[in-house]
Amino acid sequence: MAEVVIVQNAEAAGALVAAEIAELIDARPDAVLGLATGSTPLPVYQALRARLEGRDVSQVRGFALDEYVGLDPAHPESYRSVITREVVEPLGLDPRRIHVPNGAEATIQHAGDDYESAIDAAGGVDLQILGIGTDGHIGFNEPGSSFASRTRVKTLTEQTREDNARFFDSIGDVPRHCITQGLGTILRARHLVLLAFGEGKAQAVADAVEGPLSAILPGSAIQLHPHATVVVDEAAASRL
Ligand code: GLP
Repeated sequence: MAEVVIVQNAEAAGALVAAEIAELIDARPDAVLGLATGSTPLPVYQALRARLEGRDVSQVRGFALDEYVGLDPAHPESYRSVITREVVEPLGLDPRRIHVPNGAEATIQHAGDDYESAIDAAGGVDLQILGIGTDGHIGFNEPGSSFASRTRVKTLTEQTREDNARFFDSIGDVPRHCITQGLGTILRARHLVLLAFGEGKAQAVADAVEGPLSAILPGSAIQLHPHATVVVDEAAASRL
């Protein structure tokens, strides 16, 4: 059963999770962070700026959850760009230690296995930050994803493409495929921290925390994890 922490707002959640991450880095300067994109984790990254100021973060390592397939990594909405802009640069991390799945079409056949090997070589993820999609996806594991899945290519649902269209000029520009850590990959992280804010996430949160364990509800996979923390505001907790 995941531990649920209800906070006043996204800013408070950011401060809470940033404190936890700073503590982890103090204890282990080469900590391996599992990084998420989307708007939800941004308050964590913002709070981390102040928290990590003056600390030596040169050894910190990180693995992003997912990436679009076929989008130029230099595109401002590629997750490589987002992680660079929102995490690596503001926190002063070493970009060579921060990994994002490779969504290039030419190498996509082995990109999943390559990513799994890189996570294994790092000794696994210490703390994995997670958001959740309105359809319950974590990473880009859409409904129907196996709990045992590893990093692989997936097709985005229309719902997710619509949700993410706000980051692109039009929905036609949203890629149709992604490469994402699998639910099995995510479950191997030593601590999961899932964040969600707002009424729009209430059902997905309720399904993740209390729903039946089902591949139709990818978020419900967190119930299998021995150390999962869910940090939500009142609105996102409203259906618990
Ligand atoms: C994207 C990401 C997910 C994220 C989700 C929710 O699809 N691949 O990792 O959790 O969106 O996004 P947001 O936090 O903006 O609501």
